[in-house]
Amino acid sequence: MRFEKKTVVVTGAASGIGLETARAFAAEGAQVVGIDLDVAGAERAKESLAKLSAQVQFEIADLSTAAACRQAIAAAIDLRGQLDILCNVAGFSQLAHFADITEEDFQRMVSVNLGGVFFMTQAAMPHLVRSRGNVVSVASVAGLTGNPYNATYCATKGAVVNLTRALAVEYSKQGVRVNCICPGSVLTDATKATQVPDDTDPDLFRVMMPPLGNCEPEAIAQGILYLASDAASYVTGTALAVDGGRTAV
Ligand SMILES: NC(=O)c1ccc[n+]([C@@H]2O[C@H](COP(=O)([O-])OP(=O)(O)OC[C@H]3O[C@@H](n4cnc5c(N)ncnc54)[C@H](O)[C@@H]3O)[C@@H](O)[C@H]2O)c1
Repeated sequence: MRFEKKTVVVTGAASGIGLETARAFAAEGAQVVGIDLDVAGAERAKESLAKLSAQVQFEIADLSTAAACRQAIAAAIDLRGQLDILCNVAGFSQLAHFADITEEDFQRMVSVNLGGVFFMTQAAMPHLVRSRGNVVSVASVAGLTGNPYNATYCATKGAVVNLTRALAVEYSKQGVRVNCICPGSVLTDATKATQVPDDTDPDLFRVMMPPLGNCEPEAIAQGILYLASDAASYVTGTALAVDGGRTAV
């Protein structure tokens, strides 16, 4: 019960890594506020988490604008009165040839994968300073290495890694730790639904396979809980690869 009396906001909590992160925090006593744009998914998640002793509440928001992020944090504070941990999990990937990425595709991915993390963290920071809390964002191995046919995604995840470092330094004296996690290949609805564009080179995909293969979302949730816990009290500004050895190759 490492997180008793802690309030945790988890974005993207309706599915995949976010859902398992919400479950893992609640199982260890945290009061969780899940935020997601998927109304039906949030309802299903709420039902599947209802058996846990700690409370999990949901807010619906599209975190692609600063205003929506500020509103989501305000709603969480209204519900729980405090904020100890922010987990930025919401995000998405879309494979495409670099030459085919439109400005609209680019802007949407940047506004969710980078803007969502940036503005949620900005809105949360005064509350985290008060609680001497911490931030864990989900970046990706695609923020540490180059993946083919995923240029915007790699750019946003690399940006999340370095945003993490910048904020870790800036808030070090205020007692707020800021970390991110870089998952390898996780079996979620999103990865199962991935569409590969025509005319891709299979050789380029082969280098992306982690030596340990794929993992379930629980493996990433446990890494997130470690970074958010007191066991990581001397860890800040790090990008923890939980990637089945992908970046070791
Ligand atoms: N699955 C993997 O292999 C993998 C690997 C590395 C990193 N990641 C990252 O992990 C995170 C979660 O991925 P997942 O595989 O669990 O995906 P998922 O699609 O199962 O879950 C993502 C959740 O985020 C929500 N979301 C998306 N855009 C949103 C927005 N604008 N506002 C609010 N909510 C929004 C979705 O509705 C969904 O519930 C993402 O940031 C992803 O980039 C995933």
